[in-house]
Amino acid sequence: LPARLSVLAALGAAGGERIKVQGWIRSVRSQKEVLFLHVNDGSSLESLQVVADSSLDNGELTFGSSVEVQGQLVQSPSRMQNVELKAEKIEVVGNCDAKNFPLKYKERHPLEYLRQYPHLRCRTNALSSILRIRSEATAAIHSFFKPSSKINGSDENFFNVPAFLTVSGQLHLEVMSGAFTQVFTFGPTFRAENSQSRRHLAEFYMVEAEISFVENLQDIMQVMEGLFKTATMTVLSNCPEDVELCHKFIAPGQKDRLDHMLKNNFLIISYTEAIEILKKASQNFTFTPEWGADLHTEHEKYLVKHCGNVPVFVINYPLTLKPFYMRDNEDGPQHTVAAVDLLVPGVGELFGGSLREERYHFLEQQLARLGLTEVYQWYLDLRQFGSVPHGGFGMGFERYLQCILGVDNIKDVIPFPRFPHSCLL
Ligand code: 4AD
Ligand code: MG
Repeated sequence: LPARLSVLAALGAAGGERIKVQGWIRSVRSQKEVLFLHVNDGSSLESLQVVADSSLDNGELTFGSSVEVQGQLVQSPSRMQNVELKAEKIEVVGNCDAKNFPLKYKERHPLEYLRQYPHLRCRTNALSSILRIRSEATAAIHSFFKPSSKINGSDENFFNVPAFLTVSGQLHLEVMSGAFTQVFTFGPTFRAENSQSRRHLAEFYMVEAEISFVENLQDIMQVMEGLFKTATMTVLSNCPEDVELCHKFIAPGQKDRLDHMLKNNFLIISYTEAIEILKKASQNFTFTPEWGADLHTEHEKYLVKHCGNVPVFVINYPLTLKPFYMRDNEDGPQHTVAAVDLLVPGVGELFGGSLREERYHFLEQQLARLGLTEVYQWYLDLRQFGSVPHGGFGMGFERYLQCILGVDNIKDVIPFPRFPHSCLL
């Protein structure tokens, strides 16, 4: 097997081992008798320096070509890297026509430019860093939950019966939470959002958790904050170079903004308080803030700024704004449910969650009001057989990556973004 560059990059010293590497040429520098190549295999931001005798160059060693290099791993005389590869044999596996290659040598292409080339953009430092972080964050999220998890496959079946793409795994998770006290699921989720915004996709990944025997919203919020902070800290310590690249080139200042989020306690305000805050600043908004109306992106952004750019939980939303399964707060004229959204800097809503209505009669009334009793008989059943107070949340994984990396457009943190009228690949 070829050596992985991530492993070589971590080596402090080399003693002449003979190895083989495979990857793509990131740079070529030719001197009179020697040729320096940088080869990258995607496992690390760092490329391996290959030093070759000019005689090994047949003219095809160009930027973007794929190569296999065999040689000796030696100590590098330069301070740029610890080790380098003294090439004995270089094979061009696939050459690259520089004239037509949309990625230009030594250019830093803007993310919008790269978006036109979903099939090639992962060859750049920016996208490959983001995608390595994405992979690391997936693992970090799994390990946050792992000690007590059961994964629920939420895909729908299609043997001659109508099938639907899942919009959320929540109701299935609630079934599981009737037997396992802490469950989560993490997978693709589909929404026919007719939106071209910077934070909506038609296919996104969602992390959802459901916890049984909770006492109040605090119990849920604690897990939300724990997930955000623990997963982020794991990512920061497992791929510091990739994160640094994003923070330096994609979102200057993001490192400090993220540190600020990590070291402060997240704030909590009620929906009613949020509306009061927004009303005092209503001249700033296109949509007039009003009790009973949904928060718009502009409102969410204002609230986060108002709270000192620390993530803020907004709790207890009007009953009329939220789905039937949220727990009734039974609180008089301004009737609310125990819902919680977490708003974060740069993105707005990152998590949505709630306590679920575990009381049979309350749920029965809500379902009857909406004419859904028949469809959700099984769901109502759960409240009849050993019901427990429970609650949970969903976190948009792409929005999470946007938030920690400071990436402005959601289309740049997923390999193949799907959104209305566009399916480039
Ligand atoms: O707020 P949402 O719709 O909540 C639910 O689906 C609940 N059933 C989850 C639960 O309690 N188990 O979605 C949760 C999060 C949002 O806060 C947002 O971050 C993300 O999913 N999200 C999207 N991300 C990208 N593109 C979209 N179209 C999204 N819609 C929601
Ligand atoms: Mg929501």
